[in-house]
Amino acid sequence: MIDLRSDTVTKPTAGMLAAMAAAEVGDEQEREDPTTNELQRRAAELLGHEAALFLPTATMANQVALRTLSRPGSKVVAEERTHVLVYEWGGPAIHSGLVMQGLVAEAGRPTPDQVAAVDELGPGSVVVLENTHRSSGGRVWPLGEFRATVAAARERGAAVHLDGARLFNAAVAAGEPPSAWGELADTVTVCFSKGLGCPFGAVLAGSAETIERAWEGKFLLGGALRQSGIAAAAMLYALDEHVERLADDHARAKRLAEGIGIDPATVETNFVPIPAEPGLRERLAERGVGVGGLRPGWLRAVTHLDIDDEDVALAVERMQEVLSVPA
Ligand SMILES: Cc1ncc(COP(=O)(O)O)c(C=O)c1O
Repeated sequence: MIDLRSDTVTKPTAGMLAAMAAAEVGDEQEREDPTTNELQRRAAELLGHEAALFLPTATMANQVALRTLSRPGSKVVAEERTHVLVYEWGGPAIHSGLVMQGLVAEAGRPTPDQVAAVDELGPGSVVVLENTHRSSGGRVWPLGEFRATVAAARERGAAVHLDGARLFNAAVAAGEPPSAWGELADTVTVCFSKGLGCPFGAVLAGSAETIERAWEGKFLLGGALRQSGIAAAAMLYALDEHVERLADDHARAKRLAEGIGIDPATVETNFVPIPAEPGLRERLAERGVGVGGLRPGWLRAVTHLDIDDEDVALAVERMQEVLSVPA
């Protein structure tokens, strides 16, 4: 099966497993795990912040960020199909007592005017911006537009959290460092178990003071581990070995799109959006190609570390048969 359902399906490589096996470890809760400490130092620098915190998942990183930045009874405002509003099981309401408000926005990017028009947005509230934006098909938020929306949130007194689960994809696609977006937000999440190919792991970056308070949320949610250096070693390995190669995933996604008759201009990173027809996903699975859900009415084919040029060529061949693409 050519598994294009998600970039989360990757298995750790031999090099990554070797790095994990060789990791120097200690008790993370005592802040004595040297590999985790090194990961946090490097991640903070890469994301344009003073400090960073290792967390097992990006969901937990988002939830810890919201709890740290907000006051119960205030709002979390985000584009209506962001991960934090749709896929985190009501976490903002449950863990932080927040009122969840979604904005309908082109390419997952609320404009400054939209943020300016939200009622009851003020200190204690958080605006969440997602880059790349998953449900619009891995779209990249242009830096100038992002900066303007951040400024609109600040104008209202709200904090800004960047869900940059796939921020490295955005950075590689745009030719900007991840800190270019990261430093503009109060906190930023990056996930390592997607394009970067780790089995699990995320980081949350922010000011030293914010990250100190975030430790409380990490303990509260059960995310304070012990010898987390095993995971951190994989994450450090991924920073060295798996960032630049994201460009290959992006090129392969474009090639796949072209091959199956999707406009390659709609492919900015590693997602290929495919209009869904009843039974299409099952028919593709029967032909040995796995695709995932993107949003209602749309499927996605996602390239990643475990998909090479041959896989793309074969996937195109098999998908053409099912999609009846003109030759
Ligand atoms: C944009 C975005 N944020 C957060 C997450 C959550 O990541 P995790 O599975 O590590 O909790 C995902 C995962 O799919 C995502 O796409």
